[in-house]
Amino acid sequence: MLEIKDLNVHYGKVHAVKGVSLTVNKGEVVSLLGANGAGKSTILKTICGLKNASSGTIALNEKNILHVKPYKLVKEGLGYVPEGRKIYPLLTVKENLLSGAYHRHDRSEIASDLERIYELFPILKTKESVLAGNLSGGQQQMVAMGRAIMTRPQFLILDEPSMGLAPSVVAQIFDIIKTLQNLGLTMLLVEQNAFTALTIANRAYVLETGQMALEGTAEELRNNSQVREIYLGM
Ligand SMILES: Nc1ncnc2c1ncn2[C@@H]1O[C@H](COP(=O)(O)OP(=O)(O)OP(=O)(O)O)[C@@H](O)[C@H]1O
Ligand SMILES: [Mg+2]
Repeated sequence: MLEIKDLNVHYGKVHAVKGVSLTVNKGEVVSLLGANGAGKSTILKTICGLKNASSGTIALNEKNILHVKPYKLVKEGLGYVPEGRKIYPLLTVKENLLSGAYHRHDRSEIASDLERIYELFPILKTKESVLAGNLSGGQQQMVAMGRAIMTRPQFLILDEPSMGLAPSVVAQIFDIIKTLQNLGLTMLLVEQNAFTALTIANRAYVLETGQMALEGTAEELRNNSQVREIYLGM
């Protein structure tokens, strides 16, 4: 479904992503792990058309998407939950969620998708008219995920959805990710919480200073001594 080959990305002279290749097959949840500054978010932004690549290829459903504009990628079924949530603080919860459907015209379907999101995140229904900036971090993360689901993605990219959240909220966010997985959604998940990511994901990649260091099934990586020491703290 997603195939990245030999991707290089620079910020000026900083070579942030160095010859990275990565594949996500339909129906899979693939996790991308790595320390701070490894280049995880840069890869995600490049997939979403928010950052230019220096070289390499990115294909979504066998179609080259390297120079496709972000708003067009949304129409191609690419959903993105950015690092730090990036919700609209001065819009209500409902307005934030509906912003994910700005490109859609199927009004009755939009209404039923909104109800589905309220089923996934019941707390958001009760906060429908609250300004999103007034929500807790966990609730804001739910809004960010709900907004991405409103785009009706076939492929969902999540950048550190559990960052900065209390453990009980982290568990809730991962439960939602599992629900989406069971619904058949293909996902690429960037996480610092490697332990949980490796319990959910089918496969994973480990990025070190812009380069792919390891890849394997989640089970292989859970049993890898390097991963256990550095990322699982064992
Ligand atoms: N806007 C920018 N301008 C210059 N350098 C940047 C910029 N954004 C990221 N970088 C650099 O690119 C490299 C990769 O950053 P990136 O944000 O992709 O890492 P990350 O793996 O997502 O880290 P984190 O876990 O902290 O989110 C780092 O060296 C970072 O300093
Ligand atoms: Mg990041």
